[in-house]
Amino acid sequence: MKIAIINGPNLNMLGIREPEIYGRADYNELVRMIKEHAERRNIEVSFFQSNHEGAIVDFIQQAYFDKTDGIVINPAAYTHTSVAIADALKAVSIPFVEVHISAVETREAFRQISYVRDIAVSTVTGKGFDGYIEAMDILIDRADGK
Ligand code: DQA
Repeated sequence: MKIAIINGPNLNMLGIREPEIYGRADYNELVRMIKEHAERRNIEVSFFQSNHEGAIVDFIQQAYFDKTDGIVINPAAYTHTSVAIADALKAVSIPFVEVHISAVETREAFRQISYVRDIAVSTVTGKGFDGYIEAMDILIDRADGK
């Protein structure tokens, strides 16, 4: 099984950016944790982080041609604004889980909108980096018919 991990804008700044909300660990630590879990669960993972909406759309389209089985995506601020990313996810029909490090539901009103939520297999919020691990497990178990 092949899972792509996509992170949107400002997630390259993890560890520096608002540590009281997003924690002190950096993006490399996130990648390390996910790789370790992928090994444990015997799956293939790829990573993509971009601050650019179109680049994320391009990567999602490429995931289709690369026969990716599942996507874990934290669209970050684009969650709340991007019809283009939601359309790309619909276009490729790859099962995906929406992840947010913070508990977006307890934050500002503008964070209550998600353009991807209705089409996601599931959404994981407020669990820090562990949310990505939970999202991977959701996709792996679903593929195993569990
Ligand atoms: C975020 C929440 C978003 O509202 C915010 O714009 C982010 C990160 C999270 O992981 O909690 O950049 O997606």
